[in-house]
Amino acid sequence: MRASVIPETGGLDVVTVEEVPTPEAGAGDVLVDVKASAVNHTDVWIRRGYEGDPPVVTGIDVAGEVADVGASVDRFDVGDRVVLYWNTEHCGTCEFCNDGETTLCRDYGGLGVTRDGGHAEYVAVAAEHAVRLPEDVPFEHAAAVPSNFGTAWRGLVSRADVDPSDDVLVLGASGGVGHGAVQIAAHAGATVYAASSSAEKAARLRELGADHVIDYGDRDVDDAIAELTDRRGVDVVFESIGGDTYKQAIRCLTRGGRLVTIGATTGDADEAMLQHVFWKQLEVIGATGATMGEFGDMLDALFDGAIEPIIDSVIPLEEIPSAHERLSAGDSFGKIIVSP
Ligand SMILES: NC(=O)c1ccc[n+]([C@@H]2O[C@H](COP(=O)([O-])OP(=O)(O)OC[C@H]3O[C@@H](n4cnc5c(N)ncnc54)[C@H](OP(=O)(O)O)[C@@H]3O)[C@@H](O)[C@H]2O)c1
Ligand SMILES: [Zn+2]
Repeated sequence: MRASVIPETGGLDVVTVEEVPTPEAGAGDVLVDVKASAVNHTDVWIRRGYEGDPPVVTGIDVAGEVADVGASVDRFDVGDRVVLYWNTEHCGTCEFCNDGETTLCRDYGGLGVTRDGGHAEYVAVAAEHAVRLPEDVPFEHAAAVPSNFGTAWRGLVSRADVDPSDDVLVLGASGGVGHGAVQIAAHAGATVYAASSSAEKAARLRELGADHVIDYGDRDVDDAIAELTDRRGVDVVFESIGGDTYKQAIRCLTRGGRLVTIGATTGDADEAMLQHVFWKQLEVIGATGATMGEFGDMLDALFDGAIEPIIDSVIPLEEIPSAHERLSAGDSFGKIIVSP
């Protein structure tokens, strides 16, 4: 089969389309004929050597049709439409796994990162990691959400416990995770402030249902939040940009506020802002991945039509390097999807 492979770390030219052996369904597996998969910032981190295990077929988020089932699988038939859970690797026996907190396991990993993923014609996974996809949900929508909306769900719903009393600010709101966070916060009943880097992106976020939109290409986000909240600040900031944006995020929080951090696209913050953290009695909350239960809850909201991803574009395997470039420049809106 054809697959996009990162054989070693390096520049865009290391990302190659190759003929590789088609995986087989083991006894408990389903073999999936990939119809859509997503490009993620993690793919860029793998190429640069910050994450993952090259050589690897990338592709964390996958939707497709069951092409074969293992001998012990009775939940699926050939032809069934499925979307895949991506955090497939965890030990199952440590203190965290025993509590169901599989994303805290030392052996945490998954599709397209520590094992071959879905930037390919086929991928095989344990049947328990496949979820049946309703006919009315396009493969492209299903492939857009797992790791992005799943992590936003874990961060906002499970970790920060967002409810209708909360004002939630999402930074990097046009991103794959960010535009999911905007919708998930709204779904939880919160008042949503969405901040993005251009007027055009800001206008699209207004259409997504954000209550307040800030173009931080135009003004500092903490000034805008101070004005919009009558100097109170927001209860929750959802953040994945890192770097200097961390300081803005801390300034935007009201007393007792929670910062949910799920990424650091521009690198680490150079100051912890300790005086703000203790004086305002803030909580800094990390979130990574999602449990199978959180994935299921997020999918229920997708299947109900309460949340819906935006598809930036659909590209062939050969154009994955240019998708890396676009993600690195921050010029996409929603998800870039691969049709193998
Ligand atoms: N912890 C986890 O499990 C987990 C899961 C998924 C993703 N992540 C991480 O979260 C981050 C965001 O992921 P994503 O998939 O949402 O990425 P994405 O689709 O590329 O979106 C990132 C957004 O950040 C904003 N941004 C601001 N400065 C940027 C810069 N210098 N370069 C690129 N983007 C910049 C842009 O939005 P605006 O223009 O709207 O500001 C951009 O759309 C990545 O670092 C990723 O690795 C972590
Ligand atoms: Zn474990």
